Amino acid sequence: MACITLLLAILHVHKALCEAIFWDTAIQLSKTMTLECVYPLMDNLTQVEWTKISGAENVNIAVYNPNHPMHIDHNYFHRVHFLNATLEFRNMSLSFYNASEADIGIYSCLFHSFPGGPWEKKIKVVQSDSFDITAPSNDCLSEEPGQNVTLSCQLPNNWPVKQVMWEKVQPHQVDVLASCNLSQRTTYTSKYLRKTWSNCSQGTQSVLIIPNATSADSGLYRCRSEASTGEQKTYVIRLIITDDGANKHFILPIAGGSVSLLLVILIIITIIFYSRRRRRQVRTPLKEPSDKQSKVATNCRSPTSPVHSTDDEKEDIYVNYPTFSRRPKPRF
Ligand SMILES: *[C@@H]1O[C@H](CO)[C@@H](O)[C@H](O)[C@H]1NC(C)=O
Ligand SMILES: *[C@@H]1O[C@H](CO)[C@@H](O)[C@H](O)[C@H]1NC(C)=O
Ligand SMILES: *[C@@H]1O[C@H](CO)[C@@H](O)[C@H](O)[C@H]1NC(C)=O
Ligand SMILES: *[C@@H]1O[C@H](CO)[C@@H](O)[C@H](O)[C@H]1NC(C)=O
Ligand SMILES: *[C@@H]1O[C@H](CO)[C@@H](O)[C@H](O)[C@H]1NC(C)=O
Ligand SMILES: *[C@@H]1O[C@H](CO)[C@@H](O)[C@H](O)[C@H]1NC(C)=O
Ligand SMILES: *[C@@H]1O[C@H](CO)[C@@H](O)[C@H](O)[C@H]1NC(C)=O
Ligand SMILES: *[C@@H]1O[C@H](CO)[C@@H](O)[C@H](O)[C@H]1NC(C)=O
Repeated sequence: MACITLLLAILHVHKALCEAIFWDTAIQLSKTMTLECVYPLMDNLTQVEWTKISGAENVNIAVYNPNHPMHIDHNYFHRVHFLNATLEFRNMSLSFYNASEADIGIYSCLFHSFPGGPWEKKIKVVQSDSFDITAPSNDCLSEEPGQNVTLSCQLPNNWPVKQVMWEKVQPHQVDVLASCNLSQRTTYTSKYLRKTWSNCSQGTQSVLIIPNATSADSGLYRCRSEASTGEQKTYVIRLIITDDGANKHFILPIAGGSVSLLLVILIIITIIFYSRRRRRQVRTPLKEPSDKQSKVATNCRSPTSPVHSTDDEKEDIYVNYPTFSRRPKPRF
């Protein structure tokens, strides 16, 4: 059953990629879900409409015009509400009181502005557990806040790429950040509130730039490319924006770097000296945890990684050293 759902989800995603974009955000169905819709531009807003797209027809949910009270359709009157919509016209997020399977589908939030014209965001509500984000990330990148972070995704060179799409993947929500039709050289303007930038021209890789990154930008980013033949490739990268507290952690070893390096060398010499005098006893169970630890640490590319690794080395030795002295004297 779960397998069928997953297959359906994959098919949906495939369809989405083939038919250009038909949604900007996919969210998981939940009882009190909120479909977020925030107008990002500075234009003066005149009206906003929420509709549900059912096949060829649209079902009205609500209309708001600042000259009139909020109008909610009778079918939705006791089922949806707007938090502070009239106070904050730019944030017209639609919240449900008690959503059910009947509310699965695609919703449209359409702002009319002057002089900008219409601005539409499409939100797709999907059945719970359709998202498979347990898929492992292919790579990991650690950056400091305030940086312009560049995520890059290698494009397959054995087939002509037709479309490249970047998404931010959260457990309950997937947002399209950028989509590029390479045959047409057209970039789709993202409706995601966080502005990012991606290049769209024939090349060996696609980049996504997140300007002035903050800890809120941490998470999983997915890059999907598709060939004209329908072949697809997916690449997932985990971005970690370290907060200021973690930064201090990195800075400290830099200051004491040279001192600790000397110490490390001294300790290594001492250990080698001692271990030569001892019989080689069962050391394997001891090594395992420290091995795992360094694997976790080096899993993530970071600008400070060389410092980090000496830190690990130091740790390894401090862990091992007392165990040696605690060990009973070898029997002769
Ligand atoms: C990309 O552009 C080509 C050429 O105009 C068009 O045929 C194709 O449908 C577009 N693909 C998508 C996914 O928008
Ligand atoms: C929005 O309207 C105000 C007054 O109604 C006007 O001063 C302002 O220039 C308008 N802004 C834009 C972007 O058109
Ligand atoms: C918009 O409103 C919703 C519901 O009140 C809230 O959850 C969300 O954080 C708001 N978003 C912004 C960007 O203000
Ligand atoms: C709604 O607006 C009031 C007053 O501006 C504010 O105190 C409250 O936090 C807002 N609620 C939400 C959900 O945005
Ligand atoms: C929510 O909806 C379900 C089924 O649609 C219904 O059984 C339940 O009583 C509703 N709960 C509330 C609090 O309205
Ligand atoms: C980020 O990019 C902007 C615009 O390109 C530039 O002005 C700024 O200096 C960059 N910041 C850093 C930290 O590189
Ligand atoms: C995107 O930019 C990167 C770096 O500037 C470049 O190496 C790459 O070829 C570009 N990719 C595309 C598809 O234009
Ligand atoms: C970057 O973000 C920080 C925190 O949100 C903000 O204080 C700063 O002004 C931003 N810098 C730029 C260049 O946008």
